[in-house]
Amino acid sequence: MRLLAVTVSLGAALLVTMTAPSYAAGGDAIFKKSCAGCHYTDGPAKEKTIADQLAKKGPELWYAGSKFQKDWLVAWLQAPKPIRPLKYNSLTDKNPGDHPKMSAGDADAVTEFLMGLTSPEVKAGVIKANNNVQGRNTFTKKMPCGGCHEYSLKGVVLGGKSGPSLVGASKRLNPDWIYAFLAKTKVFKPVRDMPDFTGALNPKDMESVAAYVAAFE
Ligand code: HEC
Ligand code: HEC
Repeated sequence: MRLLAVTVSLGAALLVTMTAPSYAAGGDAIFKKSCAGCHYTDGPAKEKTIADQLAKKGPELWYAGSKFQKDWLVAWLQAPKPIRPLKYNSLTDKNPGDHPKMSAGDADAVTEFLMGLTSPEVKAGVIKANNNVQGRNTFTKKMPCGGCHEYSLKGVVLGGKSGPSLVGASKRLNPDWIYAFLAKTKVFKPVRDMPDFTGALNPKDMESVAAYVAAFE
């Protein structure tokens, strides 16, 4: 009887090991080894001073699971293309476009890890991508968004270069995160960079401009 029980539990353990998707395991260890030197994952807002922020060569990822779309993330890690026209934390140097590339297996595992890093400030399912007139007015006329961000209109890329490009935001960013980022900029960017629009835009304007950005091709 005892022998049987041992055999059964051994069998079960083996089965679990064999069916567990090994590609998704260990993303945190891979990240620690290859990525943590350039990216914070401990948040919120570990980088409380400009010196903290400059201590890392890449953007904070502690809310990556709230910010990015999973399919975009796993593909980008294998074939990264510049997001910021300029080098991170620089207003003069061009982005060298030299981000490390990962194998498909490592990218899967690290994506699982990063998608688990979420912020409770992001409410799910509120903002739907929508190319709306109010959002467009805010983005292109009322506020200087387009002065710092590239975006594409009828296939032509317009806009400034000091912020991340928003071309392709519909595939890259989670619409609900865009709204949370505008409404609570200081939670995500405590030190500097993106201006805080909380005094200048009311929540309705933020919703419509977030929906507008979320629809960018
Ligand atoms: C030498 C420093 C460096 C290393 C190592 C590095 N990164 Fe990056 N990472 C950057 C920089 C700089 C950017 C900004 C790139 C851009 O805007 O085009 C970036 C951007 C990113 C982004 C997009 C973030 C955003 O907010 O736009 C993700 C996701 C990312 N890295 C994940 C990783 C992963 C996973 C690894 C481990 C394989 C890694 N990085 C290793 C410097 C680094
Ligand atoms: C003075 C320049 C400036 C203006 C004006 C500005 N932004 Fe930004 N924005 C930034 C910078 C800088 C960042 C973040 C930098 C980083 O992470 O490297 C950013 C980040 C963002 C992001 C996140 C993009 C990403 O991939 O991380 C969104 C979305 C965004 N801004 C939307 C807007 C909207 C909408 C407006 C207008 C209401 C606006 N921005 C106005 C400079 C600006």
